Amino acid sequence: MSKTDITEKIVSLCKRRGYVFQSSEIYGGLNGCYDYGPLGVELLKNIKEAWWREMTYREDVEGIDAAILMHPRVWEASGHIDNFSDPMVDCKECKARFRADQLTDTDCGNKGYKGRKAIKCMEEGKFTEARNFNLMFKSYIGPLEESSSVVYLRPETAQGIFVNFNNVKEASRQKIPFGIAQIGKSFRNEINTKNFLFRTREFEQMEMQFFVNPNDDNKWFEYWKEKRIEWFYKYGMKKEKLKFYEHEKLAHYAKAAFDIEYEFPFGWGEIEGIHNRTDFDLKRHSEYSGKKIEYFDDQTKERFIPYVIETAVGASRSFFAFLCNGFEEEELVKENSDGSTSKEVRTILRLHPALAPIKAAVFPLVNKDGMPEISKNILNDLKNYFKVFYDDSGAVGRRYRRQDECGTPYCITVDTQTLEDGTVTVRERDTMSQERISKDNLLSYITEKIKFKI
Ligand code: GAP
Repeated sequence: MSKTDITEKIVSLCKRRGYVFQSSEIYGGLNGCYDYGPLGVELLKNIKEAWWREMTYREDVEGIDAAILMHPRVWEASGHIDNFSDPMVDCKECKARFRADQLTDTDCGNKGYKGRKAIKCMEEGKFTEARNFNLMFKSYIGPLEESSSVVYLRPETAQGIFVNFNNVKEASRQKIPFGIAQIGKSFRNEINTKNFLFRTREFEQMEMQFFVNPNDDNKWFEYWKEKRIEWFYKYGMKKEKLKFYEHEKLAHYAKAAFDIEYEFPFGWGEIEGIHNRTDFDLKRHSEYSGKKIEYFDDQTKERFIPYVIETAVGASRSFFAFLCNGFEEEELVKENSDGSTSKEVRTILRLHPALAPIKAAVFPLVNKDGMPEISKNILNDLKNYFKVFYDDSGAVGRRYRRQDECGTPYCITVDTQTLEDGTVTVRERDTMSQERISKDNLLSYITEKIKFKI
C-alpha cells in the first residue's frame, strides 16, 4: 500500500466514523479548515486533557486561558509584524501559489503534470519573483476598518503567556523556576495547506513557557526535551516513529531548538518544538509596554529577566499523529463452515485507552430474553464515568469490527450465560482476546485499564 493510500484511508475513516469533516463541506469546503465530529471532538479533548494533566498537575506550572485577540502592539513586540512571513511565488502558467522554500516537496499545480514537483516549474522559469507574505489574519475591532482598530488573530498562544508573566507570578506567588501553560486556537494564513490536519489555517496549540534563571537554561532545556518525548511514548506512540531534529539555523531570539518529529505516511514532520527563547520575549514586551518585567530572587538577591524554555505542541497535529500511529489494517484468516479459509481485513485504530473516544461498547447478543435490559443497565451505570456506546444491530462480529475502526478498546457482550451467572464477556480490541467477568466488576475492571498512568 502506498503512503498516499494510507493518508487517504485515514481521511476516509475520519469521515466515515465521525472523526473529522471538511469545514463547510456542503458549500464545497474551506481550504485548510476542518471540523471535528462526534468521535474527533472526544479524541481531541482527551489529548488536551492528557497534556493538561501532565503539564499543570505539578507544583511548578500554572495554567491560563488568554484571549485570542490581543493588543496590536503585542505583535510588534514579538516580531510577528516584521518577521512572521513566508516567501511566496505564483506560477504564471497555472496560477497556483506556492511557498518558495518548499518547492522540492510540493506538487506542481497543473493537473496535466501528474507527479511533477513545483521545483521543476521554477527551474523552467514559470514562477514570479518571491515576495514575503505575512501569515497573520488581520481584522478590525469595532465598526470602522481603519489602521487604529487593527487586530490580529493570534498565530501562537505563547504571547498570551508572556504578557501575563507579572500577573501570574504575583497571583500564584510562584518562584522561579516555574511555568505557565495554555491550550488554545491559533491561526495562520498558510500559503499552502497540506496533508490533511498537518498544516491548516486554524488549529489548536498546547504551549508551556518555563521561566528560569539564565544560568540554568541548559539544564531545563534538557529536562523538558526528555519529558515531552516521554509523554508521547506514554500515550502509545511507537518509539521508531518519533525522533528529535535539531535546528541548525536558529530564529534570531533562540539559543537552542529541537523538534519532535513523527513519521507520517507522507514523511517526517514536526509535531512539537522545544525552544530556548532566551529573555527575548519578556525583554521586548517590557520595552514596548514600558512596564518592568523581571524577577527578583529574594534568596540570592539577584535581579534578572528570566530565560524561557518553551514546549509548543499542536493539539490538532498530534491528533493526526495519534491517528496515523494507531491506524492498522490487519489481515485475518477466517475459517468457513465448510472447512475452507478466506481472508478478511480488520481495520483498527489502536488508540491508547486513555485517549480513545469511546471506552467501551455494550452489546446484547440477541434482542430478547432480557439481554437488552441487562445491557442497558450496564450502559447506564458505566456512562456516569466515561463514554460508552450501545449497539444491538447486526451480528456481534460486525459490531466488533465497527468498534475496532472507532478505536474502542473494550466490547462487553451480554449473552445466555449472563442470564445464569451474571457474567459478561469483555473483548479487547488489539488482541481480540476475551475474558469472562462478573458484570458487577465491569466498572473497576475498565477504569483500571483506562486510567491515566501518572
Ligand atoms: N510558540 C512557538 C510556536 O508556535 P511553532 O513551531 O510555530 O512554534 C508549534 O508551532 C506547533 O504548533 C507545531 O509543532 C505544530 O504542531 C503546530 N502547528 C504550527 N503551525 C501549524 C499549522 N499551520 N497547522 C497545524 N498545526 C500547526
